[in-house]
Amino acid sequence: MDAVVTDATQPAIALRGVNKWFKSATGEPLEVLKDVAFEVPPRSILALLGASGCGKSTLLNIISGIVEPSGGSVSFGGVPAAEFTGWDTIGYLFQDDRLLPWRTAIRNVEFALEAGELARAQRRQRARAALRLVGLEEFADAFPYQLSGGMRSRVALARSLVREPRMLLMDEPFSRLDAQTRALLHGEVLRIQNMKHMTIVFVTHDVEEAAVLADQVVVLSPRPGRVREIVDVPCARPRDPTHPAVIAYIQRLRALI
Ligand SMILES: Nc1ncnc2c1ncn2[C@@H]1O[C@H](COP(=O)(O)OP(=O)(O)OP(=O)(O)O)[C@@H](O)[C@H]1O
Ligand SMILES: [Mg+2]
Repeated sequence: MDAVVTDATQPAIALRGVNKWFKSATGEPLEVLKDVAFEVPPRSILALLGASGCGKSTLLNIISGIVEPSGGSVSFGGVPAAEFTGWDTIGYLFQDDRLLPWRTAIRNVEFALEAGELARAQRRQRARAALRLVGLEEFADAFPYQLSGGMRSRVALARSLVREPRMLLMDEPFSRLDAQTRALLHGEVLRIQNMKHMTIVFVTHDVEEAAVLADQVVVLSPRPGRVREIVDVPCARPRDPTHPAVIAYIQRLRALI
């Protein structure tokens, strides 16, 4: 099948009227998302902010094509999901790290390249560079059980970046990190995003993180998740969370959730 060409003047990702119902454990229908609509311009960063259980992971699963919406539509560069052929240009960092316990850190990162064309030595080289990026080169040969929770999150981040995806979906990527590592990785992700012109959608509970990283923050209501407000954060980067303009956004977001 010929690749369907996406339009760079269209939003990289657009959701319209997305609804999702699940069947609950008792068999009752459970409304999880209601009429969710937003657009992610190419090369921009969008944060999804909302209470636990409001459907944020479900939304990323819908965008990545893992879960079908019950209604509404998703499109990429103007191309409806049903016709979109660029799924391999989307990277997804899941909420749990999903590392393979029998593989070392570097072999976990290499895993993301194994379906591609690269020779083994090149895969190894790319994986090592990605681990260096997240500050874990010296733990390349450690198994997941030999790493801390935060280190495992960083391996998962390296794995999601190693293919240099055009679009990156990240589900609470920094929540298990200490403040210092988190700030470091915020800087790295911004640097890579800027260099590779990535479009990023990420989930966070952290209002400050949303205000420091995102161009747009989509604030969701408790379940069923609906868009309560979309806040544009036009501050220049790098953003200092103690700058009055950034503080004003942090306070505004805090008032919304
Ligand atoms: N496959 C599924 N089958 C049934 N219910 C599901 C399924 N996946 C998610 N849910 C339900 O949908 C709701 C939203 O779940 P989701 O994981 O999207 O929330 P979330 O906003 O990511 O929460 P958290 O911040 O805790 O990660 C929850 O009530 C959950 O129980
Ligand atoms: Mg979640």
